[in-house]
Amino acid sequence: MEIVGPREWYAALDVLEKEKGIAILLGATDTGKSTLAKFLIFNLCKRGLKVALVDADIGQSFLGPPTTIGLSLFKSDPYWEILLSPPEIFFVGSTTPEGHFQIHLKGVKRMVDKTALLEAEAILVDTTGFILGEAGEELKRKKIDLVSPQFIIALQKSGEIESILNLYQSNPIYKIIRLPLSDHVQTRSMEERRSYRTSQFQDYFKYSIIQELAIGHIQIEGEVLDPNGETLPLDWALKINSLLIGLKDSNDETLALGLIKNYFEEKNILRVSTPFREIERVKTIQLSSLRQILVYEDEGS
Ligand SMILES: Nc1ncnc2c1ncn2[C@@H]1O[C@H](COP(=O)(O)OP(=O)(O)OP(=O)(O)O)[C@@H](O)[C@H]1O
Ligand SMILES: [Mg+2]
Repeated sequence: MEIVGPREWYAALDVLEKEKGIAILLGATDTGKSTLAKFLIFNLCKRGLKVALVDADIGQSFLGPPTTIGLSLFKSDPYWEILLSPPEIFFVGSTTPEGHFQIHLKGVKRMVDKTALLEAEAILVDTTGFILGEAGEELKRKKIDLVSPQFIIALQKSGEIESILNLYQSNPIYKIIRLPLSDHVQTRSMEERRSYRTSQFQDYFKYSIIQELAIGHIQIEGEVLDPNGETLPLDWALKINSLLIGLKDSNDETLALGLIKNYFEEKNILRVSTPFREIERVKTIQLSSLRQILVYEDEGS
């Protein structure tokens, strides 16, 4: 369905079409960042540009499952149908950047750098709504400094991210485009967000099979925290049923996600459920503290 936006969104489209480059989309939660990204993708493709989306919205992912930063190239065919390349993913291991700044920023940088290989003309970086307060500002500032976008596109209700924009206002490297929210923007409840995440994970793991990993030959990264924030010993962590892990190759590229099924300690074998078929390519496992992601849990449970 074609997305309709306020008049100012079309003006931004004209600027991006003409000048091209990297645009980071900033705004608080539920301001319409992801919808604006889709609006720009659709219309820029229609105008013949190759557009890449780096989806750093790790909680409400559009490309790839939650907990990952996704990257796809969009372009239109001669009949104006939009073609999308299968998303590449980078596992962050969390559905929120809080407590995971470093790895989140590493993933965003990695994916933006990859867009050069795809020969994308316009590169959109969608972000989480985690922007307010000191930590939110710090993350967005670091992201902007790392990515060096030509455009900072800000969606604001009433100037709530001006404190970040002011830092870049007088720097000629950045063009700030301030856009109003669409009248159609809707607030989503925590339940809706959780349920979206669960269905995205269910979809991702739909065609999973059980694979065996000989973990004597595999590097293990990251840690598993208990609900009190204490690090669990590795042999305990590997026994957690349905623990979410990232499967990576020798170049630190995320191949896929997996869910731990069993750990046979004596044989050093980890059984993992994953949609990924080329298990011999896995050289590193990245742990997370998330489990039971395929089961929807309401607030009370
Ligand atoms: N121009 C629009 N037309 C129709 N619906 C819109 C428009 N903009 C936003 N919405 C609706 O508002 C809701 C929130 O929009 P969206 O998911 O784009 O916000 P967001 O800022 O990306 O949120 P988050 O902070 O969770 O990432 C969605 O249900 C979306 O469909
Ligand atoms: Mg979003």
